[in-house]
Amino acid sequence: MYTSKISGLGSYVPENVVTNDDLSKIMDTNDAWIQERTGIKERRHIKKGDGNSTSIMGVKAAKIALERANLTSDDIELIIFATLSPDMYFPGGGVRVQEMMNMKTIPAIDVRNQCSGFVYAISVADQFIKTGMYKNVLVIGSENHSGGLDMTTRGRGVSVIFGDGAGAAVLTRSEEEGKGILSTHLHSEGAHAKELSLEGPSTEHWVPEIIAENPQENIPYYPYMNGQFVFKNAVVRFSEVINEGLQANNRTASDIDMLIPHQANLRISQFVQKQFKLSDDQVYNNIQKYGNTTAASIPIALTEAWEEGKIKDGDLVVLAAFGSGFTWGSAIIKW
Ligand code: ACO
Repeated sequence: MYTSKISGLGSYVPENVVTNDDLSKIMDTNDAWIQERTGIKERRHIKKGDGNSTSIMGVKAAKIALERANLTSDDIELIIFATLSPDMYFPGGGVRVQEMMNMKTIPAIDVRNQCSGFVYAISVADQFIKTGMYKNVLVIGSENHSGGLDMTTRGRGVSVIFGDGAGAAVLTRSEEEGKGILSTHLHSEGAHAKELSLEGPSTEHWVPEIIAENPQENIPYYPYMNGQFVFKNAVVRFSEVINEGLQANNRTASDIDMLIPHQANLRISQFVQKQFKLSDDQVYNNIQKYGNTTAASIPIALTEAWEEGKIKDGDLVVLAAFGSGFTWGSAIIKW
């Protein structure tokens, strides 16, 4: 059986930096509160007219990843696009990338698994490569959160956390034993779907209904998050799914060279780091600069860690995510 290796990585974030102080000018919040609870100092937001969208940022990241993989868009046989903030309600971002990159009529799959989207997408790509169906798969995670957040004091518990950006990875067939993606592990628990959700507009909450109800609180077209419940579940599921991946490969936490957690909240990453007794060098965090970019957070962090020389040949790299659904997953990679 074949394995998949990551042959190229790329990322893109919009130029517009939004600091915590910038947010405190438009809502009742402050730098100290945000940093203490989340670790976030600033994030990037698309600026109207800067030419970015979820798909366009995905294309920008994908072009870098392709170049680094020494491939062209003609070599790609499948696109997998993970996002919770597509340009349009339908179709999804995958076909837009296919069109913008002048690709052949290859298949495009959209993954709707929010913060776990990239790990789910990597897992789907890995299955297609392992079975021999495709040689090169382009996996993208991209989010345009800024346009859909409640940027008033009412929405501050959620809106200060999220940022825009994209990351991409090219997965390529390999026959090198014991290297590449060793395994992926995926889970979900729909019982908690509403604890971190955006209910409308949707088939359950069409726009006229939302306008007619005109609720003062919990407006269903802005995201809702039960923050403390999410925190409690996240730390348990992160650790379970990392352990599951390590055990499946007869490894222990001491074998981890680099853990790239989904950048949900610095406090969650630090909690997980402590549970596994990892040093600062073994866990990569960049939420301080970008906020939580959901499906884009792992590929952006992975790209930056690699660019900074923090991931070397032969390293054991662990990706782990938890998010809305709830969904969670891990990928164990021998670089
Ligand atoms: N600025 C200032 N004050 C705020 C803000 C803000 N941005 N947001 C909320 N507050 C206030 C609240 O109104 C509340 O005030 P009150 O006590 O007068 O009522 C007070 O701060 C405490 O609010 P809590 O919601 O209880 O704050 P908490 O300490 O739980 O922190 C947080 C909120 C950071 C969201 C926390 O619950 C958390 O870390 N949750 C984890 C969830 C998470 O990180 N999700 C990331 C996205 S999901 C994912 O990627 C998995």
